[in-house]
Amino acid sequence: MKSSMFEFLILFLFASQSLSVYAGNFNKDVQIHWGDGRGKIHDSAGSLLSLSLDKSSGSGFQSNQEFLYAKAEVQMKLVPGNSAGTVTTFYLKSPGTTWDEIDFEFLGNISGHPYTLHTNVYSKGNGNKEQQFHLWFDPTADFHTYCITWNPQRIIFTVDGIPIREFLNSENIGVPFLTSQPMRLYASLWEAEHWATRGGLEKTDWSKAPFIASYRNYNVEGCAYANGKSSCPSNKPWYTQALDVKGRNRVRWAQGKYMVYNYCTDKKRFPQGPPRECT
Ligand SMILES: *[C@@H]1O[C@H](CO)[C@@H](O)[C@H](O)[C@H]1NC(C)=O
Repeated sequence: MKSSMFEFLILFLFASQSLSVYAGNFNKDVQIHWGDGRGKIHDSAGSLLSLSLDKSSGSGFQSNQEFLYAKAEVQMKLVPGNSAGTVTTFYLKSPGTTWDEIDFEFLGNISGHPYTLHTNVYSKGNGNKEQQFHLWFDPTADFHTYCITWNPQRIIFTVDGIPIREFLNSENIGVPFLTSQPMRLYASLWEAEHWATRGGLEKTDWSKAPFIASYRNYNVEGCAYANGKSSCPSNKPWYTQALDVKGRNRVRWAQGKYMVYNYCTDKKRFPQGPPRECT
């Protein structure tokens, strides 16, 4: 009882910190590049954007700028009710067949059952680095802050300011890291019944369509990339950000209590032993 009160206080402190984020402007910063009107910006300040999905199409937006390293943050409120088969995303990706990618993907579920937060990292077209979590709150009841910090040393995934995963640059032991391909930010709402519901176990309930997810307080600080050159703002804390003892304890807390899948411990998939970066 005591410890859950303590946890609650910690979460509260973090949640209140994340309220002070500077908000970008969807009108200036992104294009709704997919969905034929299903994606909408709701105000002239460009602070609120919604994506929708129906039987004929999903929708999505992408950042105007490309970045080579960035801290990308947004608040999301996910599809409520029966969201089985829907996937809501916020991710970074480079083009081409040997692309780099850093993913937050939220797999919907039937009413009353938890979403799965799927994270993955691709380098040079190779993913296979999935970690999945349940959340300690209902992500459909309100907006929560999701952030990807990508710097030359590491990738940190945070939820409401709490780091849940750190992926280190392990080039020194021969694991490719994301160091050379500029990426754009993307967000989308799409249907993936087969993938998202363990082989189509749950059917998407199209009678509940259109499904809607909302985004606000979009904010990217990054090294903008244009004409073969990257310009980095100097002295940005995120560029050298690492996890301190507190941060590592929070990762341990999130992974201990809420992680539901970790590729590093999947012996069936990696009978020869876990991938190098796991140890
Ligand atoms: C849906 O909820 C069940 C628990 O009730 C969980 O086992 C399953 O992984 C969830 N599915 C998704 C796609 O999150």
